[in-house]
Amino acid sequence: MKKILIIGASSAIAQATARLYCKEGVHFYLIGRNEEKLEIVKDDLITRGAEQVDLDATNPVSLEENESQIKRARQSLGEIDLALIAHGDLPDQKECEASARKTIKALTINSVSVISLATLIAHHLEEQNKGTLVVLSSVAGDRGRASNYVYGAAKSSVSTFLEGLSYRLNGTGVSVITVKPGFVDTPMTEEFEKGWLWTQPETIALGIKKAIEKQKSVVYLPWFWRWIMRVIKIIPRTIFKRLSL
Ligand SMILES: NC(=O)c1ccc[n+]([C@@H]2O[C@H](COP(=O)([O-])OP(=O)(O)OC[C@H]3O[C@@H](n4cnc5c(N)ncnc54)[C@H](OP(=O)(O)O)[C@@H]3O)[C@@H](O)[C@H]2O)c1
Repeated sequence: MKKILIIGASSAIAQATARLYCKEGVHFYLIGRNEEKLEIVKDDLITRGAEQVDLDATNPVSLEENESQIKRARQSLGEIDLALIAHGDLPDQKECEASARKTIKALTINSVSVISLATLIAHHLEEQNKGTLVVLSSVAGDRGRASNYVYGAAKSSVSTFLEGLSYRLNGTGVSVITVKPGFVDTPMTEEFEKGWLWTQPETIALGIKKAIEKQKSVVYLPWFWRWIMRVIKIIPRTIFKRLSL
């Protein structure tokens, strides 16, 4: 992996993943809405051995900018070996229930912009006939829950989109990887009390690197979430609606 595009590059999971690819000859192109944060990520990656780190401090959620963002990334990197889409935000479920506008905003951040960028990146990778697209979805997309179904719906649409995209690109040199982390201790989840199911972003990053090496289509991280979600998915609706999940 020599030419790496990261969208939402200030994400703790994205940063931990980028660090695993820092070595001589690696060229990163980082997109994110906050220039100061991108500069900090850049300094860190350069210190750790990356050869070149270019920044694009524009908002990945601004749909009208997506086309030019990916075009600039392509111009800077030449070919893209690896693209990681990592931006996302946990909306306030109660506020979304009370406001269609907030629900649409949450869906735009977590789904529409991700799908827009994935579509544009897929075009480029298809043209190259090689490359890997990795997108951070979530276990939350596997089943609707009363306590977070807006975020869940966004992630579910991302996972379904990526599944279809991976089938479309099957047989080309392009691979598409859907990453479904469980609970990860990052700024997005800072308000939550952390228990035994929680993981650090560095563990998720190692799982992402392994999934890329093994060209997996879908990966639950850590691995035990595959089994947790299998159980969650088979609970009958009549029982599920009585659980306060
Ligand atoms: N943490 C978890 O438990 C968990 C579990 C499953 C999936 N995920 C997914 O993993 C991905 C990375 O999240 P993380 O845990 O690494 O959290 P994080 O460190 O808080 O990173 C979130 C990223 O999304 C960006 N972002 C948030 N709201 C945005 C907005 N309105 N417009 C543009 N960019 C925005 C942030 O940019 P700024 O730095 O500029 O704010 C940051 O780059 C997300 O897609 C998240 O849904 C996380």
